[in-house]
Amino acid sequence: METVVSGIRSTGHLHLGNYFGAIKNFVKMQHESNCYFFIADWHSLTTHPHPDDLHNNVKKVLSEYLACGIDPDVATIYVQSDIPEIAELYLLMNMNAYVGELERTTSFKDKIRKHPDNINAGLLSYPVLMAVDILIQKANKVPVGKDQDQNLEMARKFAKRFNNIYDVNLFPIPEAYGFKGEMVKIPGLDGSGKMGKSEGNGIYLFDEPKEIQKKVMRAVTDSGPTQMNQKMPESINNLFTLLDAVSTPDTVEYFKEKYNSCEIRYGDLKKQLAEDIINFTTPIRKRIIEINSNDEFLRRTVKIGAEKARENASKTLKEARKIIGFKSF
Ligand code: TRP
Repeated sequence: METVVSGIRSTGHLHLGNYFGAIKNFVKMQHESNCYFFIADWHSLTTHPHPDDLHNNVKKVLSEYLACGIDPDVATIYVQSDIPEIAELYLLMNMNAYVGELERTTSFKDKIRKHPDNINAGLLSYPVLMAVDILIQKANKVPVGKDQDQNLEMARKFAKRFNNIYDVNLFPIPEAYGFKGEMVKIPGLDGSGKMGKSEGNGIYLFDEPKEIQKKVMRAVTDSGPTQMNQKMPESINNLFTLLDAVSTPDTVEYFKEKYNSCEIRYGDLKKQLAEDIINFTTPIRKRIIEINSNDEFLRRTVKIGAEKARENASKTLKEARKIIGFKSF
């Protein structure tokens, strides 16, 4: 069976874009592959989170993923910093990662531009740590978005390089896990192409119904269609994409007909959309609250996850140490 590894950023709440873009597929994937999901809390240190926030950020994303249906009895779910083997393999792999190639990655160059006052070494070797997350579990597949393509490419490069230097086959070369047609890109409601945290247009799974209503009612529209069956502008198309994700086919059909016959009232469409989003998110929100306050469940979940992840990771690390030439006296 294929092994899949995915790292989860421990910053911010999950929005509908995260849900329909990835998590919904993770929930399915966990039954088809040997899945390792982990919260990348070491990675989050590059931005120097306040000590009071670090733990709660991890707890928050963990609760949200579990509430969405990631099942600790099916997948291996763990916290990165619970796996010390990752830190050691990271040290070893850093020796064969070159500053020149790390400096050339677009994400590093982006960071230099955006945060010139915090260009730390952890940021530079971020792709090495990410590669180790993947390679230490000997993953074959990594489900990542477009923005992570280059990091995955680096992981492949580091894996091949290690295998070549020592003439071994320790690391499988990881590939992108393609969700193909199943991946729905959720647009923003500000007329923009994508829902995202940095875009500031997210509808979060944790949003209160009132907040969702407010966000949906504020969505950008136009003055309405003037010709039968005319092509939808992006902002209207976006509303329909969201409706498609959370409503019944009948509802979508109803509003499409209204649009095509120029009888649509955007206020009605938005009211329906808000209601259906709320119906979709409310049970998830309740589960998030429940899980987040169940410390015993969370403790057990990360403990079992760490045990499973460490068992696999320590085997790989042991092999790597031996290959490199470490021997005990
Ligand atoms: N860099 C990824 C992101 O920002 C998170 C991540 C860390 C990751 N380690 C990983 C993703 C390993 C996949 C595999 O989204």
